[in-house]
Amino acid sequence: MLKILDIHTYYGDSYVLQGISLQVAKGKVVGILGRNGMGKTTLIRSIVGFNPPRQGQILFKERDITHSPSYRIARMRIGLVPQGRRIFPSLSVLENLKVGARGKGADTWNMEKIFSFFPPLQARVHHKGNELSGGEQQMLAIARALMTNPELLLMDEPTEGLAPLLVRTIGEAILQLKEGGLSTLLVEQNLPFAIKVSDVTHVLSKGTIVYSSTPKELWENEQVKAQYLGI
Ligand SMILES: Nc1ncnc2c1ncn2[C@@H]1O[C@H](COP(=O)(O)OP(=O)(O)OP(=O)(O)O)[C@@H](O)[C@H]1O
Ligand SMILES: [Mg+2]
Repeated sequence: MLKILDIHTYYGDSYVLQGISLQVAKGKVVGILGRNGMGKTTLIRSIVGFNPPRQGQILFKERDITHSPSYRIARMRIGLVPQGRRIFPSLSVLENLKVGARGKGADTWNMEKIFSFFPPLQARVHHKGNELSGGEQQMLAIARALMTNPELLLMDEPTEGLAPLLVRTIGEAILQLKEGGLSTLLVEQNLPFAIKVSDVTHVLSKGTIVYSSTPKELWENEQVKAQYLGI
């Protein structure tokens, strides 16, 4: 589904991603763990074309998207759930969802399907983005991405700042989407959460992948957890 081949990404002279390679297979959740400032968001920005890599290649369904403009990448059914949610504060839940709406057909996401997937959003349908709780905003951010009918979902720290019960809700949503065949690249700092939902995990430190394993192996590797995740 997604293949990242030795990408190098800069902000001006600042060399951030220093040769990252990874793959996301269809229907899998790949977790990227790493502390603050290690390059997790930069990896996502590289994929969606906000900060294309200066070297290396990004393939989506075998197609080279490395230097495609971001609007074109969004149309290729790559959905983004950005860090900090980025809900439009003055738009209602319904309007926020319509911003994402794209595509037709029987298996596409629509309002009805969204509200049965995230029932709390239905109760808030005419409320504005800034009137929602953090958990509701996160559901809305995921729902807005789903409205684009993605085949690949990129999620940047979806559990940031959420209470444990809501973290669980988001985890169940990711697992349910996976059952439906969606592929996900999940960036997280919440290790127990990432372990529960991921099929493969990579640890990112200073712009390189320093450890790749099954979630179980990462969970049991005290040395890697202490050195790179501060746990
Ligand atoms: N727009 C930018 N211009 C210059 N440097 C940036 C920019 N955005 C991020 N950086 C730098 O790039 C490095 C990686 O940042 P990035 O946002 O990818 O980290 P992160 O792993 O997502 O961190 P966090 O967990 O805090 O979100 C950091 O050193 C950061 O200061
Ligand atoms: Mg980040």
